[in-house]
Amino acid sequence: MLNIAVRAARRAGSIITRAIEKRQDLVIESKSKNDFVTEVDRQAEATIIDVLHRAYPKHGFLAEESGVQNGDAEYQWVIDPLDGTTNFLHGNPQFCVSIALKHNNILDLAVIYDPIRDELYTASQGKGSYLNDRRIRVSNLMSLDSSLLGTGFPFKFPEDLDTYLNTFKALHPLVSDIRRAGSAALDLAYVASGRLDGFWEIGLHEWDIAAGALLIQEAGGYVSDFGGGERYLKTGNIIAGNPKIHKGILQTITPHLNEGLKK
Ligand code: IPD
Ligand code: CA
Ligand code: CA
Repeated sequence: MLNIAVRAARRAGSIITRAIEKRQDLVIESKSKNDFVTEVDRQAEATIIDVLHRAYPKHGFLAEESGVQNGDAEYQWVIDPLDGTTNFLHGNPQFCVSIALKHNNILDLAVIYDPIRDELYTASQGKGSYLNDRRIRVSNLMSLDSSLLGTGFPFKFPEDLDTYLNTFKALHPLVSDIRRAGSAALDLAYVASGRLDGFWEIGLHEWDIAAGALLIQEAGGYVSDFGGGERYLKTGNIIAGNPKIHKGILQTITPHLNEGLKK
Protein backbone atom coordinates (compact mmCIF):
# COMPACT_ATOMS: atom_id res chain seq x y z
CA MET A 1 0.00 0.00 0.00
CA LEU A 2 2.91 2.35 0.68
CA ASN A 3 4.13 1.89 -2.90
CA ILE A 4 0.72 2.84 -4.27
CA ALA A 5 0.55 5.88 -2.00
CA VAL A 6 4.02 6.95 -3.16
CA ARG A 7 2.95 6.58 -6.79
CA ALA A 8 -0.11 8.77 -6.08
CA ALA A 9 2.00 11.42 -4.29
CA ARG A 10 4.58 11.57 -7.10
CA ARG A 11 1.88 11.95 -9.76
CA ALA A 12 0.31 14.80 -7.79
CA GLY A 13 3.78 16.32 -7.36
CA SER A 14 4.37 16.40 -11.10
CA ILE A 15 0.98 18.07 -11.69
CA ILE A 16 2.00 20.75 -9.18
CA THR A 17 5.53 21.35 -10.52
CA ARG A 18 4.31 21.51 -14.12
CA ALA A 19 1.78 24.15 -13.07
CA ILE A 20 4.24 26.46 -11.30
CA GLU A 21 5.28 28.37 -14.42
CA LYS A 22 1.63 28.84 -15.42
CA ARG A 23 0.43 29.85 -11.99
CA GLN A 24 -0.30 33.45 -13.10
CA ASP A 25 -3.02 32.07 -15.41
CA LEU A 26 -4.78 30.03 -12.72
CA VAL A 27 -8.24 30.94 -11.53
CA ILE A 28 -7.89 31.38 -7.78
CA GLU A 29 -11.00 30.78 -5.71
CA SER A 30 -11.33 31.75 -2.09
CA LYS A 31 -12.98 29.08 0.11
CA SER A 32 -13.03 31.53 3.01
CA LYS A 33 -10.87 34.51 3.97
CA ASN A 34 -7.19 33.70 3.21
CA ASP A 35 -8.07 30.13 2.19
CA PHE A 36 -7.41 29.62 -1.51
CA VAL A 37 -7.93 26.79 -3.96
CA THR A 38 -7.07 26.37 -7.64
CA GLU A 39 -7.60 23.76 -10.32
CA VAL A 40 -4.09 22.50 -9.45
CA ASP A 41 -5.22 21.51 -5.93
CA ARG A 42 -8.29 19.82 -7.44
CA GLN A 43 -6.42 18.01 -10.23
CA ALA A 44 -3.74 16.80 -7.83
CA GLU A 45 -6.40 15.50 -5.45
CA ALA A 46 -8.42 13.80 -8.22
CA THR A 47 -5.25 12.05 -9.43
CA ILE A 48 -4.36 10.82 -5.94
CA ILE A 49 -7.87 9.49 -5.37
CA ASP A 50 -7.93 7.87 -8.81
CA VAL A 51 -4.66 5.98 -8.19
CA LEU A 52 -5.75 4.85 -4.71
CA HIS A 53 -9.33 4.00 -5.68
CA ARG A 54 -8.24 1.83 -8.64
CA ALA A 55 -5.96 -0.16 -6.34
CA TYR A 56 -8.33 -0.25 -3.33
CA PRO A 57 -11.95 0.24 -4.43
CA LYS A 58 -13.32 -0.49 -0.95
CA HIS A 59 -11.24 2.14 0.87
CA GLY A 60 -12.68 5.46 2.05
CA PHE A 61 -11.34 9.02 1.72
CA LEU A 62 -11.14 12.26 3.64
CA ALA A 63 -9.68 14.74 1.17
CA GLU A 64 -9.41 18.50 1.57
CA GLU A 65 -11.12 19.54 -1.66
CA SER A 66 -13.67 16.75 -2.17
CA GLY A 67 -14.53 15.81 1.42
CA VAL A 68 -15.56 12.38 2.67
CA GLN A 69 -16.22 9.33 0.48
CA ASN A 70 -17.12 5.92 1.89
CA GLY A 71 -16.57 7.24 5.41
CA ASP A 72 -17.42 3.94 7.16
CA ALA A 73 -14.71 1.90 5.44
CA GLU A 74 -12.12 0.12 7.57
CA TYR A 75 -9.30 1.83 5.65
CA GLN A 76 -9.44 5.64 5.27
CA TRP A 77 -7.03 7.76 3.22
CA VAL A 78 -6.50 11.30 4.50
CA ILE A 79 -5.29 13.60 1.74
CA ASP A 80 -3.98 17.14 1.39
CA PRO A 81 -3.12 17.32 -2.32
CA LEU A 82 -1.19 20.60 -1.98
CA ASP A 83 -0.21 21.80 1.47
CA GLY A 84 1.11 25.34 1.18
CA THR A 85 -1.18 26.66 -1.56
CA THR A 86 -0.42 30.29 -0.67
CA ASN A 87 3.32 29.62 -1.13
CA PHE A 88 2.61 27.83 -4.42
CA LEU A 89 0.58 30.80 -5.68
CA HIS A 90 3.55 33.08 -4.99
CA GLY A 91 6.10 30.73 -6.53
CA ASN A 92 7.57 30.28 -3.04
CA PRO A 93 8.98 26.73 -3.18
CA GLN A 94 7.75 25.41 0.18
CA PHE A 95 4.78 23.10 -0.31
CA CYS A 96 4.08 19.38 -0.46
CA VAL A 97 1.64 16.55 -1.06
CA SER A 98 0.46 14.78 2.12
CA ILE A 99 -1.22 11.36 2.21
CA ALA A 100 -1.95 9.23 5.28
CA LEU A 101 -3.79 5.95 5.71
CA LYS A 102 -5.79 5.08 8.82
CA HIS A 103 -6.78 1.49 9.58
CA ASN A 104 -9.67 1.26 12.05
CA ASN A 105 -8.92 4.88 12.94
CA ILE A 106 -5.23 4.28 13.73
CA LEU A 107 -2.54 5.90 11.61
CA ASP A 108 -0.89 3.20 9.54
CA LEU A 109 1.00 4.81 6.62
CA ALA A 110 2.31 8.27 5.81
CA VAL A 111 3.72 9.88 2.67
CA ILE A 112 4.81 13.51 2.40
CA TYR A 113 6.36 14.54 -0.91
CA ASP A 114 8.19 17.80 -1.63
CA PRO A 115 8.23 17.89 -5.44
CA ILE A 116 10.65 20.84 -5.65
CA ARG A 117 13.45 19.13 -3.73
CA ASP A 118 12.31 15.64 -4.78
CA GLU A 119 12.23 14.69 -1.10
CA LEU A 120 9.98 11.77 -0.22
CA TYR A 121 9.15 11.13 3.44
CA THR A 122 7.50 7.80 4.27
CA ALA A 123 6.49 5.96 7.41
CA SER A 124 4.63 2.76 8.27
CA GLN A 125 3.31 1.93 11.71
CA GLY A 126 6.03 0.11 13.68
CA LYS A 127 8.58 0.27 10.85
CA GLY A 128 10.19 3.69 11.24
CA SER A 129 10.37 6.83 9.11
CA TYR A 130 12.42 7.42 5.99
CA LEU A 131 13.57 10.31 3.80
CA ASN A 132 14.30 9.03 0.29
CA ASP A 133 14.82 5.55 1.73
CA ARG A 134 17.22 6.64 4.48
CA ARG A 135 16.03 6.18 8.05
CA ILE A 136 15.33 9.46 9.86
CA ARG A 137 15.13 10.34 13.56
CA VAL A 138 13.94 13.40 15.44
CA SER A 139 16.71 15.64 16.78
CA ASN A 140 18.39 14.77 20.07
CA LEU A 141 18.44 18.27 21.57
CA MET A 142 17.70 18.05 25.29
CA SER A 143 16.19 21.49 25.99
CA LEU A 144 14.47 24.42 24.30
CA ASP A 145 17.67 26.37 24.70
CA SER A 146 19.28 26.49 21.21
CA SER A 147 16.29 24.77 19.58
CA LEU A 148 14.84 25.73 16.19
CA LEU A 149 11.03 25.58 16.20
CA GLY A 150 8.48 25.73 13.41
CA THR A 151 5.02 27.25 13.73
CA GLY A 152 2.06 28.59 11.76
CA PHE A 153 0.08 31.80 12.24
CA PRO A 154 -3.69 31.49 12.71
CA PHE A 155 -4.39 33.62 9.63
CA LYS A 156 -7.73 31.89 9.06
CA PHE A 157 -8.76 32.38 12.72
CA PRO A 158 -8.10 36.02 13.71
CA GLU A 159 -10.01 35.41 16.96
CA ASP A 160 -7.11 33.17 18.10
CA LEU A 161 -4.38 35.65 17.18
CA ASP A 162 -3.88 37.15 20.65
CA THR A 163 -3.69 33.73 22.30
CA TYR A 164 -1.30 32.54 19.61
CA LEU A 165 0.91 35.62 20.06
CA ASN A 166 1.05 34.96 23.80
CA THR A 167 2.33 31.43 23.14
CA PHE A 168 4.85 32.87 20.68
CA LYS A 169 6.04 35.50 23.18
CA ALA A 170 6.46 32.83 25.86
CA LEU A 171 8.56 30.55 23.63
CA HIS A 172 10.54 33.19 21.76
CA PRO A 173 13.07 34.08 24.51
CA LEU A 174 13.66 30.39 25.33
CA VAL A 175 14.64 29.13 21.88
CA SER A 176 17.28 29.79 19.26
CA ASP A 177 14.78 30.86 16.55
CA ILE A 178 11.32 30.21 15.10
CA ARG A 179 10.34 29.59 11.44
CA ARG A 180 6.98 30.12 9.73
CA ALA A 181 7.57 28.39 6.41
CA GLY A 182 3.93 28.01 5.26
CA SER A 183 3.35 24.27 4.92
CA ALA A 184 2.36 22.55 8.15
CA ALA A 185 2.76 19.06 6.67
CA LEU A 186 6.30 19.81 5.50
CA ASP A 187 7.13 21.40 8.87
CA LEU A 188 6.10 18.15 10.57
CA ALA A 189 8.25 16.15 8.14
CA TYR A 190 11.13 18.45 9.13
CA VAL A 191 10.52 17.68 12.80
CA ALA A 192 10.64 13.96 11.92
CA SER A 193 13.98 14.42 10.15
CA GLY A 194 15.51 16.67 12.83
CA ARG A 195 15.61 19.82 10.67
CA LEU A 196 13.28 21.39 13.22
CA ASP A 197 13.33 20.42 16.90
CA GLY A 198 9.65 21.13 17.47
CA PHE A 199 6.45 22.66 16.10
CA TRP A 200 3.16 24.11 17.30
CA GLU A 201 0.09 25.52 15.53
CA ILE A 202 -3.56 26.27 16.34
CA GLY A 203 -6.56 25.10 14.31
CA LEU A 204 -5.15 22.86 11.59
CA HIS A 205 -7.16 20.18 9.78
CA GLU A 206 -6.74 16.43 9.89
CA TRP A 207 -5.36 16.41 6.32
CA ASP A 208 -2.63 18.91 7.29
CA ILE A 209 -1.25 16.75 10.11
CA ALA A 210 -2.17 13.05 9.80
CA ALA A 211 0.86 12.00 7.73
CA GLY A 212 3.28 14.27 9.60
CA ALA A 213 2.13 12.94 12.98
CA LEU A 214 2.92 9.33 12.04
CA LEU A 215 6.28 10.36 10.53
CA ILE A 216 7.23 12.02 13.83
CA GLN A 217 6.05 9.15 16.03
CA GLU A 218 7.91 6.62 13.90
CA ALA A 219 11.00 8.84 14.07
CA GLY A 220 10.95 8.75 17.89
CA GLY A 221 9.09 12.01 18.56
CA TYR A 222 5.90 12.99 20.38
CA VAL A 223 2.75 14.59 19.02
CA SER A 224 -0.14 15.89 21.13
CA ASP A 225 -2.99 18.36 21.30
CA PHE A 226 -2.66 21.49 23.46
CA GLY A 227 -3.74 19.58 26.57
CA GLY A 228 -1.00 16.98 26.09
CA GLY A 229 -3.65 14.48 24.90
CA GLU A 230 -4.25 12.62 21.67
CA ARG A 231 -7.11 14.59 20.13
CA TYR A 232 -4.91 16.60 17.77
CA LEU A 233 -6.42 15.13 14.59
CA LYS A 234 -9.84 16.31 15.78
CA THR A 235 -8.94 19.67 17.39
CA GLY A 236 -6.20 20.61 14.92
CA ASN A 237 -4.20 22.10 17.79
CA ILE A 238 -0.83 20.39 17.62
CA ILE A 239 2.44 20.30 19.52
CA ALA A 240 5.20 18.11 18.10
CA GLY A 241 8.86 17.54 18.74
CA ASN A 242 11.48 15.27 20.10
CA PRO A 243 10.27 14.14 23.56
CA LYS A 244 12.12 16.87 25.50
CA ILE A 245 11.20 19.68 23.13
CA HIS A 246 7.58 18.53 22.98
CA LYS A 247 7.42 18.72 26.78
CA GLY A 248 9.13 22.11 26.79
CA ILE A 249 6.65 23.60 24.30
CA LEU A 250 3.66 22.13 26.15
CA GLN A 251 4.78 23.43 29.55
CA THR A 252 5.65 26.86 28.17
CA ILE A 253 2.41 27.53 26.30
CA THR A 254 -0.09 25.95 28.74
CA PRO A 255 -0.38 29.01 31.05
CA HIS A 256 -1.24 31.18 28.02
CA LEU A 257 -4.09 29.07 26.63
CA ASN A 258 -7.73 29.87 27.24
CA GLU A 259 -9.90 26.94 28.37
CA GLY A 260 -11.28 26.32 24.88
CA LEU A 261 -7.79 25.74 23.48
CA LYS A 262 -6.53 23.32 26.14
CA LYS A 263 -7.34 20.34 23.94
C1 IPD B 1 -2.15 25.45 5.14
C2 IPD B 1 -0.69 25.31 5.47
C3 IPD B 1 -0.25 26.38 6.44
C4 IPD B 1 -1.09 26.38 7.69
C5 IPD B 1 -2.55 26.50 7.32
C6 IPD B 1 -2.95 25.38 6.39
P1 IPD B 1 -3.15 24.67 2.76
O1 IPD B 1 -2.60 24.42 4.28
O2 IPD B 1 -0.42 24.06 6.06
O3 IPD B 1 1.10 26.20 6.84
O4 IPD B 1 -0.71 27.46 8.51
O5 IPD B 1 -3.35 26.52 8.47
O6 IPD B 1 -4.31 25.46 6.09
O7 IPD B 1 -4.41 25.48 2.87
O8 IPD B 1 -2.08 25.36 2.02
O9 IPD B 1 -3.39 23.27 2.30
CA1 CA C 1 -3.11 22.06 4.24
CA1 CA D 1 -4.24 22.03 0.70
